[in-house]
Amino acid sequence: MMNTPSTCSLLFALLVIFSCSWAVSSDGHDDFIQCMSIQSNNDSSISNVVYTPNDTSYSSILNFSIQNLRFTSETTPKPLVIVTPVQESQIQPIIYCAKENGMQIRVRSGGHDYEGLSYASEVPFVILDLFNLREISVDADNKTAWVQTGSTIGELYYRISETSQTLGFPAGVCPTVGVGGHFSGGGYGALLRKYGLAADNIIDARLVDVNGRILDRKSMGEDLFWAIRGGGGASFGVILAWKIQLVDVPEKVTVFTIDKTLDQNATNIVHRWQYIAHKFDEDLFIRILIRRVNSSQDGGRTIQASFNSLYLGGVGTLLPLMQQSFPELGLQREYCTEMSWIESILYFAGFPIESREVLQNRTQPNVRYFKAKTDYVQKPISRNGLEGIWKLFFEEEAEEAEMILSPYGGRMDKISDSAIPFPHRAGNLYKIQHLVYWEPEEVEASDKYINWIRKLYSYMAPYVSNFPRAAYINYRDLDIGVNNKGNTSYSQASIWGIKYFKNNFNRLVHVKTKVDPANFFRNEQSIPPLYSWWNKNGK
Ligand code: FDA
Repeated sequence: MMNTPSTCSLLFALLVIFSCSWAVSSDGHDDFIQCMSIQSNNDSSISNVVYTPNDTSYSSILNFSIQNLRFTSETTPKPLVIVTPVQESQIQPIIYCAKENGMQIRVRSGGHDYEGLSYASEVPFVILDLFNLREISVDADNKTAWVQTGSTIGELYYRISETSQTLGFPAGVCPTVGVGGHFSGGGYGALLRKYGLAADNIIDARLVDVNGRILDRKSMGEDLFWAIRGGGGASFGVILAWKIQLVDVPEKVTVFTIDKTLDQNATNIVHRWQYIAHKFDEDLFIRILIRRVNSSQDGGRTIQASFNSLYLGGVGTLLPLMQQSFPELGLQREYCTEMSWIESILYFAGFPIESREVLQNRTQPNVRYFKAKTDYVQKPISRNGLEGIWKLFFEEEAEEAEMILSPYGGRMDKISDSAIPFPHRAGNLYKIQHLVYWEPEEVEASDKYINWIRKLYSYMAPYVSNFPRAAYINYRDLDIGVNNKGNTSYSQASIWGIKYFKNNFNRLVHVKTKVDPANFFRNEQSIPPLYSWWNKNGK
């Protein structure tokens, strides 16, 4: 039969309709959105919190909290949908519809994951971004607070300081870090030696489980409550809010930073610090930041160790303490500044101490390309060992490299290594964070920098913990091992799991098997359920 013009145009119209609708569902978000609409009882407001690549604001919503530019390239796999709930009740449909449509969920709080796991995945996925859920209520009388997990630690610190000048919370240094990932992985800052980790100070939580139930500490049970305080939240559900125990801080604290270069005896002072920093009075926290700098003397380059400190008291008691325990540093009154605890938060974050409002900013001024790794040190590194590190820092790739040495001891030694999943307690002198940064114009050469930090990590092996070579989950490092895209055996996951959690890995796997046996909440380093469940259920 010959096609007449009218049958031709009819066929063409049908083809267009068919191919258009196919194109939309091939994007993969169509069915999910339809499901969301049904599950939300056709509540039209749901469309205001759902973004697909067709929306003009999709890219800005995706990128606004990304903290590592390595995962902003065109080749980074993007979500099919981003949902930014404004009410907790909007989360249950997201879980249901992701399951129905074979999509993974990546939960994002502050977006600081070092390997981008909260916003990038090679399998079809939806981002559940919690930034609209950030209510914080502080109960100064009872020294507690409820904080929704879309909040940042800066927002939390700000709200605490609005209520009291003598209450604080022992969490991280960078204000834009989100409480969702940070608290569920441990979370530490300058109050570590006095009060332990953020996760040590959580007393209740609310979570949506894989079946969409909202649970609190009592209804989730002690096993799951244990797991989400240091085991990483992403394996167990969507944490909605934490109830935290606030801690006492004096009205006046003292801060100082003293820089020492190689010709100012840096090697010997760093060497000495390793023997004493974990034994200081627990009110005293002195960390060291090591980097390469230009030498003022001859225009050459040198290594600089910055001794950066918070003391929970006034300068009058700090000076004799330092004279007695660390005279080599040569601390003098003029290097010290007394301030309130909230001002010390700004000082440590590198902001003017008058600019308290910046704690409410959710975006960092200086987002960069970087790769990081961690180590734990259990016996002091020899002077020769330190000099070998300096040598690596003189290499070309280390222009913007940094090592941050954070002392343990104090409260950290007194908490049992199985109290929460975070196991790095007594026996550790300090933790090292290794970091290397590079500039956008060097993206093509990223491998050069990543290879450099791997070389540094190999060099460090004889000097740091081994069997396992321990690591901190909040400094996520996919080099230490990853899961399969499908299911992962206990032994494969142990490769990275034992490094982060030591003997607690076993209990985490048992909790996971109980609460999410089908492994819905998963990523490259999520806790797997025991395979036997799969075998029994024939999946
Ligand atoms: P993000 O949103 O990327 O989440 C991280 C992980 O937690 C992801 O797997 C995510 O899915 C999961 N997750 C997030 N919210 C969840 C929720 N509500 N329920 C379930 N799972 C959830 N650490 C530290 O201890 N002390 C410090 O001082 C610093 N400083 C620091 C500075 C900078 C600039 C960066 C980039 C990072 C740090 N960190 C840190 C590390 C930080 O603690 C770590 O990256 C946290 O996991 C970040 O939590 P976010 O919520 O911001 O990340």
